[in-house]
Amino acid sequence: MDGDAEKRPQFGARYLTESADVFKHNAWDDVEWTEEQINEAKAKIEANATEKLSEERRLALEKDASGNWDKFYGIHANRFFKDRNWLFTELPELKDEDRKVVFEVGCGVGNTVFPILQRSLNPDLRVFCCDFSSQAVDLVRENAEFDSKRCVPFVCDATKAEDWTNAPLEDNSVDVALLIFALSAMEPEGMKTAVKNIARVLKPGGIVFFRDYGQFDMAQLRFKSGKCIDDDFYVRGDGTRCFFFTEDYVRRLFCDYAGLEEEQLKSDRRLQVNRGKQVKMYRVWIQAKYTKGHRCCFDCWPPFPPPPHCPPFGCRCCCCPLFLPKDCLALLAFCAGAEDDEEADVGPMAASSGLYSLRNGVSEKRRQKSPTL
Ligand SMILES: C[S@@+](CC[C@H](N)C(=O)[O-])C[C@H]1O[C@@H](n2cnc3c(N)ncnc32)[C@H](O)[C@@H]1O
Repeated sequence: MDGDAEKRPQFGARYLTESADVFKHNAWDDVEWTEEQINEAKAKIEANATEKLSEERRLALEKDASGNWDKFYGIHANRFFKDRNWLFTELPELKDEDRKVVFEVGCGVGNTVFPILQRSLNPDLRVFCCDFSSQAVDLVRENAEFDSKRCVPFVCDATKAEDWTNAPLEDNSVDVALLIFALSAMEPEGMKTAVKNIARVLKPGGIVFFRDYGQFDMAQLRFKSGKCIDDDFYVRGDGTRCFFFTEDYVRRLFCDYAGLEEEQLKSDRRLQVNRGKQVKMYRVWIQAKYTKGHRCCFDCWPPFPPPPHCPPFGCRCCCCPLFLPKDCLALLAFCAGAEDDEEADVGPMAASSGLYSLRNGVSEKRRQKSPTL
């Protein structure tokens, strides 16, 4: 596992143009893979996937998942992962004074949480963070930097709907949600529950930031046979699990499944070099940002003048024409062209609820079109 995966303060700054220079620096950004390299990686992954763990073993791993992470933190405490100081360069929105509520899922011992608390000058900032390992959450609370007025850690298995009902977060309350090497540790079916609930607690206009392992990363290619749980999903020697994402998978999860809008989705292909040993290590990480669109709330109909609970277009719902969000524009176009719109001839209120059901119809259609996650 990569305790050490993220050393640099800023991504994407150094490019390898002359292959002879490869051992002159410790790392190179945006490295192009050759056709041969890609085929070799694919062949390795396919060969490894021919032998998959039994259903019984798979279920046992899921049952022991939080216990295995407890054991991990029992051994490594807060010495394994590095502080994610690069986050401020990659997510400058964190410096935005208006974004006061941050929430990290799968926070571990706080390698993301504490740098945020230390750097933020915002006196109103509150950082909520959860992990399903109670050992990790205890380590967050025991950290010398911990301040209960600014930080709210809690135990939650993000893949379990029932755990979300006890989470101390209201719907539409989070400005920035963070998933840093966390989703990869969850079983793929459970990722959907996690992402859906993150979308639920996110404010309209809020951001989800995701960074995690990408397919073909060195760590994936190093797995020996007998460790493959499912396609792109493996178990480590200590029982913790790891998934390797493709861009397409990430998009389907956040957009098609959770209904968020894509702001950024990129693969970070890095070549790390051990100059002493003259070894090359090809790393692949995926980074993405998603936002929650401003919902059609319909309860501020009619649109003009905006009623008091819709302060100068503050809710930015689709009834405020100056702020029609992207999905509402698409929806209106869809409705205008809809042949089977049974509600087209009814009054504004009913029409608006018709829009709402059509809106759900749109997402349903998109979901049907995309392959299952
Ligand atoms: C690789 S660590 C990353 C920790 C932290 N985000 C960081 O950047 O240092 C993955 C974390 O996800 C947590 N985790 C795994 N599955 C989880 C789940 N279903 N619900 C909540 N946390 C989970 C693990 O306990 C572990 O702390």
